[in-house]
Amino acid sequence: MNRPCIYVTRQIPAAGLDLLRAEGEVQVWPSPLPVPRETLLEAVAEAEGLLTLLSDPIDAALLAAAPRLRVISQYAVGYDNIDVTAATARGIPVGNTPDVLTDATADFAFALLMAAARRLPEGSANVRQGEWRTWGPQTLLGQDVWGATLGVIGLGRIGQAMARRGKGFAMRVLFTDPHCKAEGAALGAECVPLETLLAEADFVSLHCPLTPETRGLIGARELRRMRPTAILINTARGAIVQQEALLQALREGWIAGAALDVTDPEPLPPTHPLVGLPNCLITPHIASASVTARTRMAVLAAENLLAGLRGERLPHCVNPQVYA
Ligand code: DGY
Repeated sequence: MNRPCIYVTRQIPAAGLDLLRAEGEVQVWPSPLPVPRETLLEAVAEAEGLLTLLSDPIDAALLAAAPRLRVISQYAVGYDNIDVTAATARGIPVGNTPDVLTDATADFAFALLMAAARRLPEGSANVRQGEWRTWGPQTLLGQDVWGATLGVIGLGRIGQAMARRGKGFAMRVLFTDPHCKAEGAALGAECVPLETLLAEADFVSLHCPLTPETRGLIGARELRRMRPTAILINTARGAIVQQEALLQALREGWIAGAALDVTDPEPLPPTHPLVGLPNCLITPHIASASVTARTRMAVLAAENLLAGLRGERLPHCVNPQVYA
């Protein structure tokens, strides 16, 4: 029997690749950097299954060059890099990897919150640069986390996991999300309008997907509504925040700080002014990067892809309309 042709756009954990190799002819882009467009176009001319990363733009033109493609499996929960409408129009199911990275991502978002609140990067730099001369009554004073107010924008799986962490720190938890009122109530969180959340939260954490509605959601108007002591945390997608406005807010003290695991673009050039700001902590999109989460993502992405090749329903499909 013919084994299907599978293209994987980066080396993912072996647990996933082994599953794919058991059923198909697998080609993996070997470089640690994204596959160039030309190479991907050549690969999809033959591929029946495509395993993608968030750094691969999968648009209508690419899909038009993929006559044999039967399934796209994204190695991430977010899939804003994929033109799902174009995939649906071609009857191609698109899979993603929810659940398995929820706690790893929320752990990291909370780690960013605490690091920014208590000025961890500045403290560490202070020691490395030989500036630690004595114990100082006023050295590197930060914000309290315990008992503070956490604002969660987007109460999906990761937002809820973040809210639970906030509750563990005796925080008052506010959220905005029209679809998750019951989940919020079950967590003891308060559903409030965005304006209220921005005005009252000590920490504003973004957990919504990037969509046309959320692109640029946090701009100058929103940042000006936040407290001057507040900290913005973003582990969702960079483009949800208007970066120029954030730069101005951090420089001019509209807010106290930001902790960003995602930026626009990615990577953010080291010369970008945000990188040099002492009140801006930036990490390289690693919120889900625990060994366990990334391994489980690999397995789930492989399961989605193989289900698509077998003509079965994907365990996690973002466009179930293809089955209608
Ligand atoms: C996702 O899954 O969307 C994250 O951004 C990467 O794990």
